[in-house]
Amino acid sequence: MKKYLVIGNPIEHSLSPRLHNYWFKQNNIKAVYEKKQIKETDIEEIILQMRNSEIEGINVTVPFKKSVIPFLDDLEISKKVPSVNTIYKKKDKIIGTNTDIHGFKSALMQTKYNLKGKKILILGAGGVTPSIIFALELLGSAAIMLSNRTKEKAENLKKLFPQLELVKWGDLKDFDLIINATSLGLEESDKIPINYDQIETGKFFYDVVYNPKKTNFLSEAKKRGHKVENGKMMFIYQAQEAFRLWAGVIPKIDNKVIQLLEND
Ligand code: ATR
Repeated sequence: MKKYLVIGNPIEHSLSPRLHNYWFKQNNIKAVYEKKQIKETDIEEIILQMRNSEIEGINVTVPFKKSVIPFLDDLEISKKVPSVNTIYKKKDKIIGTNTDIHGFKSALMQTKYNLKGKKILILGAGGVTPSIIFALELLGSAAIMLSNRTKEKAENLKKLFPQLELVKWGDLKDFDLIINATSLGLEESDKIPINYDQIETGKFFYDVVYNPKKTNFLSEAKKRGHKVENGKMMFIYQAQEAFRLWAGVIPKIDNKVIQLLEND
């Protein structure tokens, strides 16, 4: 039985095992996908287990997406996105890649939102933000505004992506698409400090958070008639791409897959 893992800390909340185990079964692949809470000092041993074929593939989540990098043989990521969420084997090499970029890009394409000439405002400069900016670049968006509570983190991102226009945290600029890439929203009580009544109608609010399904950010936007979307499809598409790399099959995104993420 082949073994796959998602590593992180904390990890209990991860819904990746539900998805991948469903897909393994659906594709008649004898494999099991588990979650494992680890410490930074465990990474070396886990990668060694991959070399010994005790583990076939790994998903990496917060806070290890960067710290796994030195243990890998090769990276299939841009220098601008120093973040690995998927590890797979190619011949005898242990390769790190990032399927969050594919996840965000596919999810946004699926909404059929036309990005042409649109002003985008990203909130947050944490782990997922470089993947989002990179995906937006791939989709052809030139002008992106970025706002983060800690200014230095936004400034560091601007070194990698010089096209970013930095906006002070709490200052609302005119935008067409606003993306919440902060972790605010994971708790039901979390509130993003923006004045929703100041925003003209007809905007698009995208939240990277998918659990809870409707964050305060999306509820406030929906109440005012804006288009809203949560991070569920981004999550599913990043998993689909990881599965493809491991199993060589593109697993189906059917209603059952979508439902798997509904009930807790
Ligand atoms: P990391 O910053 O370690 O990569 P993350 O979960 O990927 O962690 O990112 C968290 C993001 O949510 C950051 O942009 C963080 O802002 P700071 O850089 O200022 O920490 C943002 N965030 C988390 N809690 C927040 C809060 N209460 N108010 C505003 N932003 C918050």
